[in-house]
This record gives sequence, structure tokens and C-alpha cells, in this order.
Amino acid sequence: MSVSPPQLHGPEFESDPHPAYRWLREHSPVHRVDLPGGAWAWLVTRHADARRVLADPDMLKDPAAGDAAWRAAGLGLPYDHRPSLVRSMVNVDAPDHTRLRRVAGGAFTPRRVRALKESAERVTADLVDRIAASDRPDLVRDLAYPLPIAIICDILGVPGADRPEFHRRAAVIDSSSYEEMEAVAATTDWFDRYLGELMEARLAEPSDDLLGDLVEAHRSGELSRDEVTSTAFLLLVAGHETTVALIGNMLFTLLRRPERWEGLCADPALLGPAVEESLRLESPLQNATWRFPGKPTTVGGVALEAGEPVLVSLLSAGRDPGRYDDADGFRPGRGDAHLAFGHGAHFCVGAQLARMEARVAVGALLDRFPGLRLAVDESELRWWPSMIMHGLFALPVRTGR
Ligand code: HEM
Repeated sequence: MSVSPPQLHGPEFESDPHPAYRWLREHSPVHRVDLPGGAWAWLVTRHADARRVLADPDMLKDPAAGDAAWRAAGLGLPYDHRPSLVRSMVNVDAPDHTRLRRVAGGAFTPRRVRALKESAERVTADLVDRIAASDRPDLVRDLAYPLPIAIICDILGVPGADRPEFHRRAAVIDSSSYEEMEAVAATTDWFDRYLGELMEARLAEPSDDLLGDLVEAHRSGELSRDEVTSTAFLLLVAGHETTVALIGNMLFTLLRRPERWEGLCADPALLGPAVEESLRLESPLQNATWRFPGKPTTVGGVALEAGEPVLVSLLSAGRDPGRYDDADGFRPGRGDAHLAFGHGAHFCVGAQLARMEARVAVGALLDRFPGLRLAVDESELRWWPSMIMHGLFALPVRTGR
């Protein structure tokens, strides 16, 4: 194996990042990486260190805690000058974090998740019919992408007539490379205005959806106006592309070895465990969001100064042989927890929803297409060019019908 650190960008890394993370875990588990704009960050790749950083309340999330070089490089959110979009739980620390998270948690009560499941089943049945009728189905374009956006629209209560435009704009936000950030910033104008209008409509007429809850919390003084629109925007950003990647990556994991697909067809009880195993093996979020030590600390034997940016590699942690036996193997039901939804105070609020969507989507394909196969060699598949997300642009298949 090479003695020099691997590249963390470029075609080789994008088509298969796992060898690079293996090298880092073995040789430099808390590694200094250069970032665009002259900034740099610590990249944490071992499971034990990753878990410790995610659980540490002194690892701050407020971008104001980042050091001057990181802030000057503009690597935070591309819309970080907009208080109406960034005052959300993922960018703050306790006590604001606790307050914001409590209100948004209302989206995911058992009653609401049940209603969302029915909606997911309806949307999926329609999408699967279209896949069956298609000459060249692509499971990212035809299923993994449209299902989660329909569910986010349900959660926020986006009216039917606005949905096509909402979908189109969300596709721009889903651009992931640093180079494309300007286009993303431009599109946020639209979301800023649209979510503000949606909020005004709820102020005039209460509704039984998450935005309705957030607006009530604003009326009672619990949330500011910026916090309402920022939370709605966070649910879109955090809940869409991640779930697209989960469904796409899971189908890739299953179909690259047809015996895995056949095994699941023969024993559908393995569906839930297979979702977890896919999350561990191909974590949709390659790295968790930025963290900044509030005071000097040590991670994996490396000294970190206050404010130095830290990235925690969830993709690498899932493949750490120091934590998992046969770490690269697919063993649904192994029962080992993974870090793909994070850990600690910022653990994903949408984890149950994402799991449900993956089970509904993949379950419908198992029922309908037991002979499903990849239509191209896996070396031809293109992954998003990102160090943050980990997902496929397309997954062409043959349905075997
Ligand atoms: C937080 C992953 C789906 C909403 C997180 C975090 C991870 C994650 C790793 C923690 C980030 C950190 O600590 O830096 C995922 C994955 C998903 C998914 C892999 C799909 C497979 C969703 C969905 C929603 C959602 C469907 C909502 C509709 C959130 C929110 C947070 C979050 C609001 C911030 C929580 C906080 O800061 O307290 N997610 N997520 N996520 N996720 Fe998810």
C-alpha cells in the first residue's frame, strides 16, 4: 500500500473512496486535509474517535465557533449570510439546540409517521408502475429521487400546485460540489421567499402539518420568524438528498451481488436489517457536518486547538475493522449499530422516516421485480463528486420482466 496520503478528490476517489479511507484509518486516523480557499480541517476516520467527537458537547456546531481561516474560506453553508435559512438546530448548540429540536420533533410523532408511510406507499406504487412500463429504468431518477421530495412536501404541507416548482428548485440545492455552490446560493433566494410566503399563509390559516406547528411555536414566542423558515429549509436539505442516497446506495449494494437481491426476495424479514447494513457500508453522508472544539482537546492522540474545523467521516467509521468483524462484508442482522445517522445531541431527527422510506421503496421493488439486475457494469456508475455526500447519479437496471 502507498506510503503517501491518498487524494480525497478526483475521479479515482469519487468512484471508490473506500481505499483512501482505509489508508487514513491505518496511517493517519486524525488527518489534516487541505480544503478549497486555502483552509484546512481535521478528518477523523476511526469509529471510536468519530463516536467520541460526535458525543462531545464541547465540539461546537455554531459556525461562529470556527476559526478565522475556515470562515474566510466561506466553507460553511453557501447561504450563511441569510438568517432566515440558517437559524436551525444543526447550526446551534445548547440551549438553543434543545429548544429548536423539541419543536421540530413534532413532525415525527408515531401518528404523523404512520400517515407519511401511507403516503410513501401510494407514491411508490405509482413510481413502480412507471418503472415497469419504462424501456430504460434508472432507479435513482425514477424512485430514489422523487419519493423523498414528495414526503418532504407532505411534512411541510407544500400545496400540490406548488410541488413541481418545489421539486425543480430542490434539484438545484442538491448540487454538491464546492464549485457549484454559487448556483445553490442563487436558488436559495427562491426558497427564502417561498418559505416566507408559506409561513404567512399558515399565520393566516393554521394547519395540521409541521409548518403549522412551527408557526404556532412562533405565535407563542418559542421560535423566531427566522427559526421557523430555517427549520423548514433544514428539513428539505437534511431530509432529501440523504434519503435519495440511502435508497440508491442500498439498491447498489444489493444488486452488485445478485445473490443478495435473491436472498432478500426469499426472506423479506431481512429488509429492515439490510437497510441498516447498507447505511453502515455506504453511508449517505460521507462526513458529518462541521464541528469546532470550544477549547483545546485531543482526538486519537492528536492535539486540536479551539476553533479548528473537524470533519467526522461516517463512511469510514462504518468500514472500520477495529469496530466491525468482516467490515467490508454485507451481513444483514449483524446487530451492530452504525454512525450513519450521527450520534449524540445532533443524532438525525428523521432517522425513522428515512428507514421507513427505504423499506417501502426497496420492498416494493422486491415484490414486483425478483429478477432485477444492474443494466451496466458497476465500474460505469458515477458517484456524486463530493467529500460530503456519498450517492449515485444514476442506477440503470433491467427489471427482468
Ligand atoms: C441530522 C443523516 C434523513 C433531518 C443528521 C445527522 C446525520 C444525518 C448523520 C447528524 C449530523 C451531524 O451530527 O453533524 C441522515 C441520513 C438520512 C437522513 C443518512 C437518510 C438516510 C433525514 C430526514 C430528515 C432529517 C428524512 C427529515 C425530514 C435531520 C435534521 C438533523 C439531522 C433536522 C439535525 C439534527 C440536529 O442538529 O439536532 N442526519 N439523515 N434527516 N437530520 Fe438526518
